[in-house]
Amino acid sequence: MLNYEDFLAEVLISEEALHERIVALGAQISHDYAGKKLLLVCILRGGVLFLTDLMRAITIPHAIEFMAVSSYGVGGRESSGQVRINLDLNMDITDWDVLLVEDIIDSGRTLHYVIELLSIRNPHSVKVCTLLDKAERREIAIPVDYVGFQIPNKFVFGYGLDIDDYYRNLPFIGVVDLPKYQALMEQTAS
Ligand code: IMP
Ligand code: MG
Repeated sequence: MLNYEDFLAEVLISEEALHERIVALGAQISHDYAGKKLLLVCILRGGVLFLTDLMRAITIPHAIEFMAVSSYGVGGRESSGQVRINLDLNMDITDWDVLLVEDIIDSGRTLHYVIELLSIRNPHSVKVCTLLDKAERREIAIPVDYVGFQIPNKFVFGYGLDIDDYYRNLPFIGVVDLPKYQALMEQTAS
C-alpha cells in the first residue's frame, strides 16, 4: 500500500481543529439532550473515530449502538444509490432519543434510508450529527441537526474515512490528490 504522504493534497482539518470542534459539539448535545434518553447510533465504519471522541465530550448519561451500512459500490467513490444494511441495531429503540453519528453526508442517500428505517421503530426522536457535510453534493434533502464542518466537494480521508478501505486511522482529515493516487496505484499494480 501507498504512504498517505504520496497522495495527500492538503490537510483540510487538523487533529487540533477536530478536537476543538468535537468538544463544542459534545457540550451542545449534552445541553440539548439533558434529561432525555439519549442513544448514539454510530454508522460503521466511517463514524467510529468520531463516535469515540464525541461520546467522551458528552457529559450526560447515554447509550451507544452500531449500524453498518453500505451505499458505495465495492471500491467505488460514488454512492451507488442502493443502500444495504450490513449490521442492524441490537436493541429496541422505542422511546429513545436517537442521534445518528455519521462521518460525512455526501448525496444524502445513506442517511435518508437509515432515518426512514429507524423512524418506523417508534423512537421518541431521530436526529443527525455528522462530522462533515458536503452540502454541494446533496441529492436528497435531509435534516442535519449537528455538523462539525462544512467541506468543499473534494474526496477526503482520515479520521474514520477511507480510500479503498485504508487510512481510517489518520488523526486528521486530508484531501486526496485523486489523479496522483490513481497513477501510483496503477504503478504498484503493474
Ligand atoms: P451518501 O449516501 O452519498 O451521503 O454517502 C455517505 C457515505 O459515503 C459516507 O458515510 C462515507 O462512507 C462515504 N463518503 C462520501 N464522501 C466521502 C469522502 O470524501 N471520503 C470518504 N468517504 C466518503
Ligand atoms: Mg460512512
